[in-house]
Amino acid sequence: MIKIQKNSIMHTVKKDKFVIQGLGGKKTLSGKIAVKGAKNAILPVMASGILFKDGFTATNVPEIEDLGRMAEIFDGLGLQINKQARGKYLINSEGINGAEIDENASKHLRASVIFTGPLLARQGELIFPHPGGCVIGARPIDLFLEGFKKMGAAVEIKKNKYFVKAKNGKLRGAEIFFKIQSVTATETFIMAGVLAKGKTILKNVALEPEIVDLVNFLNSCGAQIKGAGTPTIEISGGGLLKAKGQIYKTMPDRLETGSFLILGALCADNLEICDCNPQHIEILTEMLKDSGVNLELGKDYIKIINNGGKPNGHFKSLNIKTREYPGFPTDLQAPLVVYLTQVGGDSFIFETIFEGRLNYTEDLVKMGAVIKMWDAHRATVNGPTVLKGRELDGPDIRTGFAFVIAGLVAKNESIINNVYYIDRGYESIEKRLRQIGADIKRIN
Ligand code: UD1
Repeated sequence: MIKIQKNSIMHTVKKDKFVIQGLGGKKTLSGKIAVKGAKNAILPVMASGILFKDGFTATNVPEIEDLGRMAEIFDGLGLQINKQARGKYLINSEGINGAEIDENASKHLRASVIFTGPLLARQGELIFPHPGGCVIGARPIDLFLEGFKKMGAAVEIKKNKYFVKAKNGKLRGAEIFFKIQSVTATETFIMAGVLAKGKTILKNVALEPEIVDLVNFLNSCGAQIKGAGTPTIEISGGGLLKAKGQIYKTMPDRLETGSFLILGALCADNLEICDCNPQHIEILTEMLKDSGVNLELGKDYIKIINNGGKPNGHFKSLNIKTREYPGFPTDLQAPLVVYLTQVGGDSFIFETIFEGRLNYTEDLVKMGAVIKMWDAHRATVNGPTVLKGRELDGPDIRTGFAFVIAGLVAKNESIINNVYYIDRGYESIEKRLRQIGADIKRIN
């Protein structure tokens, strides 16, 4: 058994670059690419380990950078996360002895905020810094602080840290209406409710499949949570959960599935994306079909068929508005904008979730794209355009992958810096892309 070492991953790969030889619009990628387990599913499931009396094994875990940050937080709290094999981890909270979330890990991982709910519920107190992560606009935590207060906790801010204390050391169930649908706030308060006294009712919650997946797992270990996947969730609080040997299998990553679909639509002839759940990405498959991409959808695969016969300029433009699930995911907005630079006509993009998440379009314009920004949230893309390879700095996970797509579709060579961000969410991506014919090398 290998214990994940603190700081083991991030600092060694931080300066890696990708060098990509562009296809200049040719569609030569082909074969099969498998989707890994979902980052946004395994992170809350790992944090849920705090709710358990015993431990559990998680399988199909993606080997990504963010796991290293989770391990740092686990370490600081006296929790165990042990690697048993590739993609297989044992999570155990028997040794829990802390209530403070590691500052360095939190700075790099916005999702560290998911620890706050279960930690406060189990330990009765909590100390955490303002979480960081991807540079995609201001990411407030007001929903979290208001929710903790509703559950009977006092919140103080000292030296840039939040100090939260539950009254008499125990959270009490509460009714919480979220003014904004938030994925991590929904997950945090589901987990807080599991160990709180009495009933917790959460209204206007997020509907993402990763929330349903978390709830199914917690319920299979003794939690009483109703309504996941609907706007209202009810949790009856109780004691610590018991896994009793239960294994959690990480669901397929719908955002990786969508990323591969967009890449395949632009650069592949025949491509099969396997080990995925097409139902979780219906908004994208419907849009690509409208645009003219020929897709075959199975239970756990999507095929892009005979795509090479049509130049990308024949595909039709699209209008997109990012929304909470099942709407168009903000995480696929940047990859889809790269797609829209290659298709014919004017497309309109309205990013409604995060401000600042269209800033990267400047780099696409430098590559030759025609994109007009109306304000921080809205832009028009006019295509098709020939992109020219250049050096790019991805500011977040999904933009990083969007730049990989842009580099592959472009003429000549591109260099992608900040590969650290791509590694945060995509496992060994260059190796997997090479297997379908891409010319992409990692340099450190
Ligand atoms: C999650 C996903 C991320 C995705 C995002 C939106 C995980 C680990 N990450 O992030 O990949 O891009 O959903 O689908 O699942 N907000 C507030 N106050 C708060 C919390 C959030 O105003 O206290 C706002 C945010 O600024 C944003 C909106 O709510 O405008 C939605 O954000 P949220 O769903 O919380 O994003 P994350 O859960 O961080």
